[in-house]
Amino acid sequence: MGKLDGRTAVITGGASGIGLASARRFAAEGATVVLWDLNAESLALAAKEVENDGGTAHVVEVDVSRRDSVEAAAARTAELAGAVTVLMNNAGILDDYAPILETDEDLWDRIIGVNLTGVYRVTRALLPAMLDAGGGTIVNTCSIAGLVAGGGGTAYTSSKHGVLGLTRQLAFDYGQQGIRVNCICPGAVETGMTKELFAAGEAAVMDSVNSVPAGRYAQPEELANLALFLASEDSSFSHGAAFVADGGWTIR
Ligand SMILES: NC(=O)c1ccc[n+]([C@@H]2O[C@H](COP(=O)([O-])OP(=O)(O)OC[C@H]3O[C@@H](n4cnc5c(N)ncnc54)[C@H](O)[C@@H]3O)[C@@H](O)[C@H]2O)c1
Repeated sequence: MGKLDGRTAVITGGASGIGLASARRFAAEGATVVLWDLNAESLALAAKEVENDGGTAHVVEVDVSRRDSVEAAAARTAELAGAVTVLMNNAGILDDYAPILETDEDLWDRIIGVNLTGVYRVTRALLPAMLDAGGGTIVNTCSIAGLVAGGGGTAYTSSKHGVLGLTRQLAFDYGQQGIRVNCICPGAVETGMTKELFAAGEAAVMDSVNSVPAGRYAQPEELANLALFLASEDSSFSHGAAFVADGGWTIR
């Protein structure tokens, strides 16, 4: 018996990094996964990885920051895989640690549009069917930047603090209707978002990454395990909580 047998799971940003690792983990536990991401080519490669493990994957091209695109993706998902009962809101982009005076309105709108408004839009599009199906779980990929300063710049940190607030409010509003909502707060993880940064090996960056108690950055699979816990009934009494997996970043 898999922990997600019979469930359909949408994972935004599912073509790379934490999203793809989680998709593989969810599929290995019996879920049919629907990968939502920007680019058809990377989606096809990601689906192949899930299928090579023996899982079932569908792909949907979407820009989570655009309402029309999200509505079309929700409709396409219903055609492909029926009612969604697991949603992982994971798509996100970084702001290169820009302080406010280097954050023009375009950068602010782009980061908030994907990282925060994207979560709002995708949840609004999929929640009604989840309620009709009798319940489900939502896992939002937040960040240590949702808890403390310095994990990103002005826009990124603001967006992730917003994701934590949205997680709590959703859990508060819908818990008694069978919807459990929680978020994961990763520290530094080697993914598409950070690969170049880590490969460049700049002393200031690597010092702050490696000086955590764990002494290293994480691999996406280490976050996927946490996402599975929250998506499944293993976390049946967790509502609106932030689960930190940061190698000890935030205890320093
Ligand atoms: N890597 C880290 O160190 C780290 C730390 C904390 C939190 N996070 C969060 O983890 C999440 C996943 O990021 P990752 O590190 O796996 O990076 P990643 O770049 O490997 O994956 C992010 C995916 O999101 C997709 N995406 C971006 N904008 C999109 C949009 N508008 N619509 C649809 N898809 C879009 C990208 O195409 C990409 O496939 C993000 O929310 C990020 O903020 C990452």
